[in-house]
Amino acid sequence: MGSVLIKHGTLVTATDTFAADLFIDAGRIAWIGMRPDANCPEADTVIDATGKYVLPGGIDVHTHLDMPLRGDLRSVDDFETGTIAAACGGTTTIIDYAAHSHGESMEQGFETWRQKAEGKAVIDYGFHMTLSEFTDQTLHGMERMVEQGVSSFKVFTAYPGRMMIDDAAILKVLKQAKKLGALVCVHAENGHIIDVLVEEALHAGQIAPQYHALTRPSIGEGEATHRVITLAEIAGAPLYVVHISCCEAIQEIAAAKQRGLPVYGETCPQYLLLSVDCYYLPPEFEGAKYVMSPPLRERPHQECLWQAIQTGVVDTIGTDHCPFHFRGQKELGRQDFTKIPNGGPGIETRMSLLYTGGVETGRITLNRFVDLTATGPAKLFGLYPQKGTIVPGSDADLAIIDPSIATIISAMTHNSHVDYSLYEGMRVKGMPEYVFLRGELIVREGKFVGKSGSGRFLKRPPVSR
Ligand code: URP
Ligand code: ZN
Ligand code: ZN
Ligand code: ZN
Repeated sequence: MGSVLIKHGTLVTATDTFAADLFIDAGRIAWIGMRPDANCPEADTVIDATGKYVLPGGIDVHTHLDMPLRGDLRSVDDFETGTIAAACGGTTTIIDYAAHSHGESMEQGFETWRQKAEGKAVIDYGFHMTLSEFTDQTLHGMERMVEQGVSSFKVFTAYPGRMMIDDAAILKVLKQAKKLGALVCVHAENGHIIDVLVEEALHAGQIAPQYHALTRPSIGEGEATHRVITLAEIAGAPLYVVHISCCEAIQEIAAAKQRGLPVYGETCPQYLLLSVDCYYLPPEFEGAKYVMSPPLRERPHQECLWQAIQTGVVDTIGTDHCPFHFRGQKELGRQDFTKIPNGGPGIETRMSLLYTGGVETGRITLNRFVDLTATGPAKLFGLYPQKGTIVPGSDADLAIIDPSIATIISAMTHNSHVDYSLYEGMRVKGMPEYVFLRGELIVREGKFVGKSGSGRFLKRPPVSR
């Protein structure tokens, strides 16, 4: 592997912005020379980053690649197309939600996910383990997972009968996580409320996509968030609330933080930029593209989320990338919104959407952008400082963006396999021109130039919090 010199760029970390040259050797950041008097070593490759930002490669800690749903439905990006899309969007690490089926051990689920990723992933990856049921094997299984480098777990308060586990089980999981130094991630919506409202809607013949949103009220998300925070407080365990979509949940996280609890929040670009109006877009059934859980909310929730980003109530931006084709997959729900596979694409557009909606509008600084997209996730999930920052010794995972260049998002040109975009036609800045993974150039002039299978599995150690 050759050495690389990135010259004349503006380096950006979660805390600093400075003019410097950066030297990469053996896959790591070897040297940073402040200009104007940088005295750079000779390098095999020189990249001129004049007028450009050099950022830590993004870390998306919420993806669902190659995820089986029901029947033979599975999310349409595998670890190859999904991570190529990620790379082209400036993301160099993902943490995907591995899962075990009912009756299957966590080790089996872990092995299945390793096989999905191996030989395919083009960026580095770790796994969380989704606890799809609670059995007498669960607590021991968690211990085994932490030994394997899977130091975070996901529980659901939604989807009774499928994924939901009850409060007693969540409390036990939290206590075990505390003991192991692991982090519990929660999908917080009240599943029982949703089931009753869905039953009533279908009974009344309300089958269109908008009823997905109308049967999942935001106060149910707030309630579940409150409840799991209570359980975490009793367990003395840290908690990470995924894909927060609404004010009610934000208020709960803010209150917990104010009391000094180690409670962390994640939101996603779709909740910041899109609203419930999308479910009513013409033509009929277009709204199915936006069916995800939690659903898109009324506009005022977006302002709440932006504020939470500004005030530090939200710690990370993930994507919940879980793409299903519109044709043939979302369409399964034409006669019944509950049959629309839940989830949407986002892995490729996360950085540019937050850059455009956050940095360009002046809502957040470039440093905060780096914190939300890379440094924060790295610290919370045991990857820091190998990943998530620019410092000598760190992996040379970098995204170089030219802030003067705008691109138009379109399913015609994106790298994801999915047949639509939630942001078709939107003009964004912040798509990377160059991306490096451990010193290898994997994106050049916006195009993927890396190799399938060059991503490595990241064993993530427990983190003391
Ligand atoms: O609708 C969604 N979000 N599908 C993916 C699975 C999940 O709940 O995160
Ligand atoms: Zn396909
Ligand atoms: Zn979820
Ligand atoms: Zn998810």
